[in-house]
Amino acid sequence: MATIISGSNSKEIAYDLSIQLQTNYCESIISRFADQEAAPIYGEKVIIVQSTYKPANDHLMELLLLIDAAKRQLPSQIIVLIPYLGYSRQDRPSYAGGPISARLISTLLEAAGASRIITIDLHTTQIEGFYNIGVQNIDPLVSLTSALKTTDNPIVVSPDIGGILRAEKLAKILNCDLAIVHKTRSSPNTSQAECLIGQVENMDCILVDDLIDTGGTLCNAAVLLKKSGAKSIQALITHAIISNNAIDTIHRAPIDNIITTNSIPHLVLTDKFRVVDMTPMLCEALHHP
Ligand code: R5P
Repeated sequence: MATIISGSNSKEIAYDLSIQLQTNYCESIISRFADQEAAPIYGEKVIIVQSTYKPANDHLMELLLLIDAAKRQLPSQIIVLIPYLGYSRQDRPSYAGGPISARLISTLLEAAGASRIITIDLHTTQIEGFYNIGVQNIDPLVSLTSALKTTDNPIVVSPDIGGILRAEKLAKILNCDLAIVHKTRSSPNTSQAECLIGQVENMDCILVDDLIDTGGTLCNAAVLLKKSGAKSIQALITHAIISNNAIDTIHRAPIDNIITTNSIPHLVLTDKFRVVDMTPMLCEALHHP
């Protein structure tokens, strides 16, 4: 029997998993000094569930402390389920001498005592190669497409060059063509959709990306698509981080609907959003040895 321990930000998804897996569920108690009193049982498998969205550093530190505490109970295995794994965008130095943060996170998780990582839609698959332990990187695309509104002339659009592989996969699933937006960034939170590679006139565009942070990437792409004659615009976005004025920006953008997952819990999303439950896919991943 395993014990599922939820970090402070992933209680709902952790509890749902424990019900579906018919396993013990334990909520961690995080005191002001980040001491915690979860009590995994000696010799058993422990599953810790915690996303590392904003405040990313607090949630990450809490997760590392949970793993460290679990390790001291000598479980047979510590599976760390991180529905949204932050810092993944920094999978290479973005300036000369800059950090490879995604690599550092892998080192920290392993040093804390993780024996296996389960996550959803890493920014790039090469991040898996940073780990010396098993990483299951769940692909949510098929689940997300099940919530798409049916369209006559679908075309998949990547909102930047970095997202081409994800977009290519989606185009294969939907058996349609692919277009690409050329995005430039002037600062970490400011981007511009410079031009479009492909034809979208009278087409039903499906933008696909791993995350929405400020909403700039998605909304600038949508404006460019509309200007280029797109008939409709839907978006499949795995992780809805939603920072700053993202909700307003999205509300004003020419996007008909956005399909996302519950990797990050949200109390308030506008009715443009539809949330697909990832618990069944996470359960399936946990069933694998
Ligand atoms: C970038 O490479 C990512 O895949 C996202 O496109 C980007 O981080 C989204 O950020 P924002 O919503 O702030 O434009």
